[in-house]
Amino acid sequence: MAKSILIINGPNLNLLGSREPHIYGSLTLAQLEQACIDHAQERGLQAECFQSNHEGELLDAIHAAAGKHDAIIINAGAYSHTSVGIRDALSGVALPVYEVHLSNVHAREPFRHHSHISAIAKAVICGLGLRGYLASIDAIAEC
Ligand code: DQA
Repeated sequence: MAKSILIINGPNLNLLGSREPHIYGSLTLAQLEQACIDHAQERGLQAECFQSNHEGELLDAIHAAAGKHDAIIINAGAYSHTSVGIRDALSGVALPVYEVHLSNVHAREPFRHHSHISAIAKAVICGLGLRGYLASIDAIAEC
């Protein structure tokens, strides 16, 4: 059976396309998700996408990934910097985690420099926009 990836986008990423395009680019979330699904398919993988602005819904989606998906790609948005709950959920399901940020968080405000997720992630990619998601898919396909 094809490997399955859950791609999670957190708060405010539903605004992609119109949200600070000089930082986050002009792709909409729907376009980004479709590009990921197509890229995964080209590599013989399945990808399912989920976005929520609510921390609890993100936790529920992570919990539901156990036994259903083989890896998680997550851009937890602002919750990356604040949520111990999301980090604990990711540790709890014990799936390989690829943390992605569209922007280079280290070149931005100091409060974006720390992520609770990074220490438990297999890889962290930031600053490459959509390419960060696609590179994570490539890595999952090859691992
Ligand atoms: C982000 C960076 C976060 O600091 C910010 O809160 C986001 C998006 C990114 O993709 O660059 O919402 O995760």
